[in-house]
Amino acid sequence: PYPFYHELRATSPVHWLSSVQPEGWFITGYKEAAAILKDARFEKRMRIPQISQAYEPLVQIQKNMMLFQNPPDHTRLRTLTNKALSPFITGSLQLYIEETAQELLAQVKEAGTMDLISDFAFPLPVLVIAKLLGVPAEDRAQFREWASVMVRTIDLSRTATTLSAGGEMAHKLIDYFHCLFTQRRKHPQDDVISALLAVREQEDKMNEEELVATCILLLVAGHETTVNLVGNGMLALLRHPDQLHKLREAPALISTAVEEFLRYESPTQMTVRFAAEDVEIGNVLIRKDEQMYIVLGAANRDPSVFPKPDQLDITRNPNPHLAFGAGIHFCLGALLARMEARIAINTLLHQLPYLHLESVTPQWRDLVGFRGLQSLPISFME
Ligand code: HEM
Repeated sequence: PYPFYHELRATSPVHWLSSVQPEGWFITGYKEAAAILKDARFEKRMRIPQISQAYEPLVQIQKNMMLFQNPPDHTRLRTLTNKALSPFITGSLQLYIEETAQELLAQVKEAGTMDLISDFAFPLPVLVIAKLLGVPAEDRAQFREWASVMVRTIDLSRTATTLSAGGEMAHKLIDYFHCLFTQRRKHPQDDVISALLAVREQEDKMNEEELVATCILLLVAGHETTVNLVGNGMLALLRHPDQLHKLREAPALISTAVEEFLRYESPTQMTVRFAAEDVEIGNVLIRKDEQMYIVLGAANRDPSVFPKPDQLDITRNPNPHLAFGAGIHFCLGALLARMEARIAINTLLHQLPYLHLESVTPQWRDLVGFRGLQSLPISFME
């Protein structure tokens, strides 16, 4: 997508596109994207057309997600969720991630080859978010399907079929979490679901539907994004042997390297806002209710902020990318995602001294707002 982004930005960093449905403004400039994300005159709105009964459960869930809310509800939900989640992002979680990464690699080491996505980048964050939330191990397999259906309902590529499938899934997810809540109310555990229930009971500020929506949001976020950060990051390294070598020589560079992977192949390529009133952005008049596609993946390659933007530089600093968004909706899982990616990639490099791409044309998934690989076959024999 990057040559197209550059072309759009060169025409205008705030550009009206009628070739997308629904039509709207494509924001490809960094300055403009950052300004819109931080500006309360651009708000979140539910985007599912309420034209079919089949979508109803999905509409219910999304309506209650902080991701689609504005203040004051957004502030309330975010504060409560943060209170329940952040005590779990600790040194002992770090140990769990390290052990899990090593176990996953131990399972494929003998074979000498693996699909980096399905054997490693996918299961790792899924195991982590399932453990954090307290989802029983035996239920984890079905979450893969549930999450991949759910992500299609928020992607630009969605259709009536994917929305109906999402409605059906939403039913199952709502029932599932209600059952889990009943169990946790009787027997609280050391997990985020029990913590959310406790916060809710103390403060009584989150209703049952919001609680379900929050759990689903955390679950889907844990399935769909960190996977792509690890997958996209490893592909970038394998395509740039000099950078791979540099990181092997100096593993402490992992912090700036992960920021560079976030910038270079942003897992979330796009997010949406709506103008709540007429607003002027860089001499362009945006009318009330018009839709804004904020292309994070394009802002992150804006040459006016990132010198040589199409070049991968794992030592790039400063690197003020927008891969986690900005403003009040800045990713709530950023700390966790960074921790997971740093451990995942350094464990891979440490455990597997010889790494090669098995295919020169890896397959990207057919999503528009998210960028991630379908699979990434690699070998690690000498
Ligand atoms: C929000 C990206 C991982 C939970 C966001 C947003 C972005 C983003 C761009 C803002 C969307 C917007 O402004 O419309 C990413 C990326 C990740 C990642 C690139 C991994 C590399 C995670 C993880 C979790 C998580 C692991 C859960 C533990 C959330 C939540 C929000 C959010 C709850 C909504 C925050 C709000 O509306 O206030 N994420 N995310 N994310 N993310 Fe992440």
